[in-house]
This record gives sequence, structure tokens and C-alpha cells, in this order.
Amino acid sequence: MSRKALTEKVAELLRSSRLAVALTGAGLSVESGIPAFRGSQGLWDRYDPLEYAHIEAFRADPKKVWEMLAELGGLVERAQPNAAHRGLARLEEMGYLRAVITQNIDALHQRAGSREVIEFHGNGQRLICLGCGRRYAQDAVALGTLPPRCSCRGVLKPDVVFFGEPIPTEASEKALAYCRRCDLLLVIGTSAVVAPASHLPLIAKQQGARVVEINLERTHLSDTVADVVLETSASQALNDILEFLGR
Ligand code: APR
Repeated sequence: MSRKALTEKVAELLRSSRLAVALTGAGLSVESGIPAFRGSQGLWDRYDPLEYAHIEAFRADPKKVWEMLAELGGLVERAQPNAAHRGLARLEEMGYLRAVITQNIDALHQRAGSREVIEFHGNGQRLICLGCGRRYAQDAVALGTLPPRCSCRGVLKPDVVFFGEPIPTEASEKALAYCRRCDLLLVIGTSAVVAPASHLPLIAKQQGARVVEINLERTHLSDTVADVVLETSASQALNDILEFLGR
């Protein structure tokens, strides 16, 4: 089937769906200048996740992890939502999409106007104290001396899910509830290899939902869980879908 025909099919699925939800990953923000984790130019080629993104690594040497984060933080701060973020916000506004479950911690969905955003891996603009659990807005904390510390002297950590940490309860429950109830799941810009987010497409599928995958490359979902695969960039796909739906 041509890309045009596949896109039209996705637009039709959105039109006829009762409850559509999107699951997004790092690929969505690549066009905003934030590198993905895997694949060519993926972050985890440069930084070993066990050394930088595991909670035990953070506890053992928070300064080292913070130095990497300070480098990446600038990229995220400068990033602007792209056409894919805006497209998903528009779909919600038009009544075609109920919620976005995102693995991203860059808050670009919210900045693009999406209202129902479930941050499965937390939010990089907040910090949490490993000692007392107090939360801070990132911009309220000086990063001159690393690691930053709480008023209780505990080490502050970005309020994001490191490997070895659980998913925040509310986000996990909401995401599961949406995936059990939805009849259409758009899986966009994720390699779908990191559990438990990677289980969500199958959960939706097993409850009878149609699954659409939008990704530059094929993934393990393409031949198994996905009903429709759009092998294209997230921004292109969202623009094309909105053309069919009449913006
Ligand atoms: N449009 C669509 N897809 C894209 C684009 C694009 N412009 N650019 C890249 N991709 C795809 C890649 O082909 C890849 O399949 O996005 C996917 C990104 O995959 P990952 O880098 O593995 O990102 P993600 O799935 O979000 O990672 C999950 O792993 O380390 C962690 O906690 C981190 O939340 C993250 C989790």
C-alpha cells in the first residue's frame, strides 16, 4: 500500500474510533533537536546507560551523572515543540485523540498544547530530593555546584525515572487504564524496548484496540502488534493525517 493510502487508513481509524490514545517516545522530539537514545546518533552510543541512567549509578556518583545532564539540559531547554507535537495537540483539540502517554521528559507535548499528557517517565523540569522526597522546579535550583542539594542536604535528582526505579504510580495506573479502554493506539517514535512502557501496545491490542505504528524505522512491533505501519517521520505523518482530517 502506498504511504498516502496508509495515511488515509490511519485518518479513517481516527475518525471511526471511540477512544484513541497516543504513546510517544524519543523519536518525537528528534525533530526538535533532542537526540534519541537508540539507533544511529543515539545517546546510549555515547553514554553507557548502566553508568549514567541507572539509579544505583546515580547514587554512587551523582556528580558524574549531573555533569552529563547539565550538558543535555541545555538542549532540552532550547528545544521547541515540532509539527508532530503540535499535530497531536490539534488532534486532541479536534476531538480525535483523548490522551498522550509519553516516555519523554521534555514537556514538549504540554508546550505544544496537549492537555491530557501522562508522563510515564517523569518530568525533567522538576527535581526530587533523594533524602526527604521534596520536589523543586529545576529553574529554582542553582546548578553551580554539582550535585545540587536540598535544604535537608539530600542529593537532588531530576524527577525522571532512572533504570531500576518504578514508574510513578498515578502515571502507570492512568496509562494502563487508557490502554485497556482505548480502541486505537498510535505508537509514535519509540523503539518500544524499554519495559514497562513497551508492554502498553500489546495490552491495548489484547483488549481489541487497533495499533498504528509511526516510526522512521521498523521495530519489533511492526510485524507483530501493529495493524498499520507508517514508516515516516512523526512530523510528516501528523501533517499528512491532519490533511486528511481537514486540519
Ligand atoms: N520520527 C519518527 N520516529 C523517529 C524519528 C522521527 N523523526 N527519529 C527517530 N525515530 C524513532 C527511531 O527509529 C526509534 O525507533 O524513534 C525511536 C526512538 O527510540 P529510543 O531512542 O529507544 O527512544 P524511546 O523508545 O523513547 O526510549 C524509551 O528508554 O532510556 C530510555 O528512559 C528512556 O524514555 C526512554 C526509554
